[in-house]
Amino acid sequence: MKQTPIIALDFATKDEVMTFLAKFDTPLFVKIGMELFYQTGPALLEEIKQQGHDIFLDLKLHDIPNTVGKAMEGLGRLNVDLVNVHAAGGSVMMQRAVEGLRSTNPDTKIIAVTQLTSTTEDQLHHEQKIDMSMEEAVCHYAKLAQTSGLDGVVCSPLEAAAITEHCGPSFLKVTPGVRPANADVNDQKRVTTPEQARQLGSTHIVVGRPITQSSDPVASYHQITESWLGE
Ligand code: C5P
Repeated sequence: MKQTPIIALDFATKDEVMTFLAKFDTPLFVKIGMELFYQTGPALLEEIKQQGHDIFLDLKLHDIPNTVGKAMEGLGRLNVDLVNVHAAGGSVMMQRAVEGLRSTNPDTKIIAVTQLTSTTEDQLHHEQKIDMSMEEAVCHYAKLAQTSGLDGVVCSPLEAAAITEHCGPSFLKVTPGVRPANADVNDQKRVTTPEQARQLGSTHIVVGRPITQSSDPVASYHQITESWLGE
């Protein structure tokens, strides 16, 4: 997988995606989420791959182990670089996800969502009835994902250091909630700069609107890449 920032392609149509990608003359790492995938299906992925880009297919699977295992078998055939599941589905579901994926693809990495960053500590305690801090809950799920055979987690950069302590530096920490200094934070609550994310132990950053909604997406991408890679 490329080390460059993962660009969240949160566009409504394939045309918008293709127009955006045409601005770049270097291979990118992009994230396709469920809004777009449910409309365009695998055909879009094929076209993006053909242009040399890496793909994080962010579908966050969460179902009974058999269903997730079979679904992952199918996702393995799409030859994307990174896929994910919800850790809340449990260790058996995660193990079956890995087995399903590996049965059709030896290379695709698989990570888990621990707690969504939209979940508040109050919801954790009163809706999910989890009686520990958010950081403890996230680290617990990260460890469960690791022992279930997954390659890493999606998390906030602010959780990356604690996860590294629990799961080691090579366990992937793919982190959204990243903004260049002085940029609009949009609806993200707890943000860091690309440089801070690197210092905190993120292995990959996900950046959407600061690039996709920029008046000069290519310049914004290069500026964020430099800050992230420390060049
Ligand atoms: O535009 P922005 O940089 O905020 O986009 C971040 C991307 O990462 C979006 O696609 C968002 O859905 C996703 N994401 C997130 N927080 C998570 C998981 C995914 O912001 N915990």
